[in-house]
Amino acid sequence: MIDFQSILTSINEAVIHEKDKGKIADYIPELAKIDINNFGIHLIDSQQENYAAGNSDEQFSIQSISKVLSLSMVLGLIGEKVWKRVDVEPSGDPFNHLSLLELENGIPRNPLINPGAIVIADILVSQLENPKEEFLAFVQNIANDYTIDYDKEVAKSEKRTGFMNFAAANLLKSYDNLNNDVDVVLDFYFHQCSLSMSCAQLTHIFYMFMNHGKCRRNKAYLTLSQVKRINAIMLTCGFYDEAGEFAFEVGLPGKSGVGGGIVALLPNKFCVATWSPGLNPKGNSKLGMLALEKLTTQTELSIF
Ligand code: DON
Repeated sequence: MIDFQSILTSINEAVIHEKDKGKIADYIPELAKIDINNFGIHLIDSQQENYAAGNSDEQFSIQSISKVLSLSMVLGLIGEKVWKRVDVEPSGDPFNHLSLLELENGIPRNPLINPGAIVIADILVSQLENPKEEFLAFVQNIANDYTIDYDKEVAKSEKRTGFMNFAAANLLKSYDNLNNDVDVVLDFYFHQCSLSMSCAQLTHIFYMFMNHGKCRRNKAYLTLSQVKRINAIMLTCGFYDEAGEFAFEVGLPGKSGVGGGIVALLPNKFCVATWSPGLNPKGNSKLGMLALEKLTTQTELSIF
C-alpha cells in the first residue's frame, strides 16, 4: 500500500523551500495580485480516499484547465463532429500563438491552445440557450459542489487585456470557423477561464477522467472512448510547447493553467492537483511540475 499522505506531506515540505518559484502571470492584471508563496496539493484515489498538503483548499483561477471541461461538454453535445473544426495534433507552440492558425486555414491544431478553445466556446454558445449558466451547472454537477463559481473580476480583467484572444477570434472568423459574434464568444471564454476552484475541487471533477467517464457518484458524463480521446489530448497537448517535457518528467496526462494550477491523473489509480502561482517560461507552474515529478518518482506510478 502506498502511503500517499506522507508522500504529499514530504513533497510539500520539499517544494516550499525552493528559492526560484517562477513568475506570476501578469498579462491578466487580476492574477498578478496573488501571493507567489502559495502551494497546495490534493490527491484522490480510485477508492475516493482524499489526501492533501499545503493550501489545497484555497481557490484560484483555473484558466486553461477549464478547456478540458468545455471540450467534455461539447463532446457530449455534438460528438465527433467537433473534429471538423479543430484538430488533435500537438502544436509545439505557446498557448496563444497564432502563426499556425493562419498557415492551416483557421483550423486550430488542438482544443487546448487558445484558438482551439475559442472554437469550442463558439460551439457551446451555439448549442446552449444560456451558455454561462449551463456550463457552470455542468461543472457543478460533475463536482457535486454548488459553491463553484466564476470570478467575475478575473473575467473582466482578461476582457480588458486579452488582445491576443481578440486577434485569434477575429482570425477564426475570417476563416469562417467562428459562427457567433467575437464579443459574445470571448465573453463566454473569459468567464469559463475565470472559474475559481481549489486543488481539492479540481480533483473531484477530474476524477471522472481516471474513472472511465464516471463522476464520484458513478454517473457517466463521458463514454469510454471520449475519455480515451480527452486523456490522449491532455498528454500530447496539455502543456503546450512543454507537453514533451511534462510526459518526460511526470508521465501522466494533465492540464495546466496560467493561474498556476495543474491537474493530472493515472487511469484507475488517482487524480492529483497542484497549485503554485509562479510559472516557468513556458507558462506552466514551476513548483507544480516539480511536485508532480516527485510524486510519480516516489510512488513509481505513471502511465509508462
Ligand atoms: O486565454 C488566456 O490567455 C487565458 N485565459 C488562459 C491561458 C492559460 O491558462 C494557458 N495555460 N497555461
